[in-house]
Amino acid sequence: MEFFNNHKKLFRTAFLFFAGLTILVAILPALNNQKNNKPLPGAEPLSADAVKGKNIYIANGCVACHTQQVRNVDMDKMWGSRPGLAADYADIHRTDIWRNTATLMGTERTGPDLTDVGNRQPSKDWNLVHLFNPRTVVKESIMPAYSWLFTIKKQPAKSDVIVNVPVAYLNGEEGKVVATKDALYLIAYLQSLKQVKLPDGTPASDFLYKRQQETAGATGATKELNGTTLYTANCQSCHQSNGEGLPGAFPPLKGSPVVNGDNLELYVGIIMNGYSGRPGFGVMPPVGTNASLSSAEVTAILNHERSTWGNNAKKVTEEEIKKIMDFVKLQAPK
Ligand code: HEC
Ligand code: HEC
Repeated sequence: MEFFNNHKKLFRTAFLFFAGLTILVAILPALNNQKNNKPLPGAEPLSADAVKGKNIYIANGCVACHTQQVRNVDMDKMWGSRPGLAADYADIHRTDIWRNTATLMGTERTGPDLTDVGNRQPSKDWNLVHLFNPRTVVKESIMPAYSWLFTIKKQPAKSDVIVNVPVAYLNGEEGKVVATKDALYLIAYLQSLKQVKLPDGTPASDFLYKRQQETAGATGATKELNGTTLYTANCQSCHQSNGEGLPGAFPPLKGSPVVNGDNLELYVGIIMNGYSGRPGFGVMPPVGTNASLSSAEVTAILNHERSTWGNNAKKVTEEEIKKIMDFVKLQAPK
């Protein structure tokens, strides 16, 4: 046959087949995917600082221990309000011409998933001390200290961002810990990580493989909420398990006049709307509102704090707290 003896014809035909198939099975489906895949309407592109921070996240290997994906299995429920979607990653592009797209979904979860960490841990002060040395705020943490993202200065300038690190963590060095630009970029990136809400009326897919719900006692009475557990989940990262806080950053609740006092409006207001403005302390975010704490949960936390670490104040009832919460909501900064 002439065809098989003509190397030019043979080569051209094979090349056309190859190119045709590539277009058909790889390029067209990819283009089609791109067309279908838009970021959700509420998604915000990363700010210029956050883009720099993402590069520092990549350079420091954070992805080795942290995932950014909420799988649709029940055990992932704690990392976001819904399972992740392709659209969550649609706005991620090539890092640059040399480097591929960094979705940073990760495969190892030695530390918590960070998909929604911007909502869970919005405090810049907390993130800075934690990054300098995680053990200052989480005693048992096995996360490495990223102290090279900070410098120690004897005489910091006015514009420097000073991190209040307890002296014990300074390894004998003298001076103030100052965050470098890189640390601030990295935290801008962490704070931008927020799970985007689905557009109104779109039902989120369900988490699969639900664990059996813990059933309340046979009487059907609701289980009493555990103030210790709620404190651990919502307050301990800053105020610490011994209630002593962190000098210069987070005030102690042990012996605190607010915790032990009778001004419950102030107390509940701090939890729901946050607190700032006192010299010597950072900013407390609106922790209660971010976590959508119910009046029963706030009551349990108050009663825990008012009766632990040597605190000894009168118990509060859910009834009075509910009234205060309705009132306090009206004062929330819009
Ligand atoms: C060796 C594993 C490891 C590496 C590497 C690591 N982390 Fe962590 N990370 C952890 C662990 C474990 C925790 C939980 C304990 C704690 O809060 O310190 C954690 C907690 C966190 C938290 C708090 C999350 C929450 O839900 O409260 C943030 C934020 C964080 N890491 C950011 C980072 C960043 C940014 C990097 C890279 C610069 C990084 N981590 C590198 C293990 C790691
Ligand atoms: C991200 C860190 C952070 C978390 C989490 C946090 N706080 Fe705070 N809290 C602060 C800071 C910082 C202040 C001091 C703010 C100021 O004085 O300007 C504060 C102040 C307070 C005070 C006032 C104490 C006093 O004596 O003046 C109370 C009470 C309080 N927090 C309760 C809570 C409770 C309850 C929770 C959990 C539901 C909680 N905090 C979670 C950072 C935090």
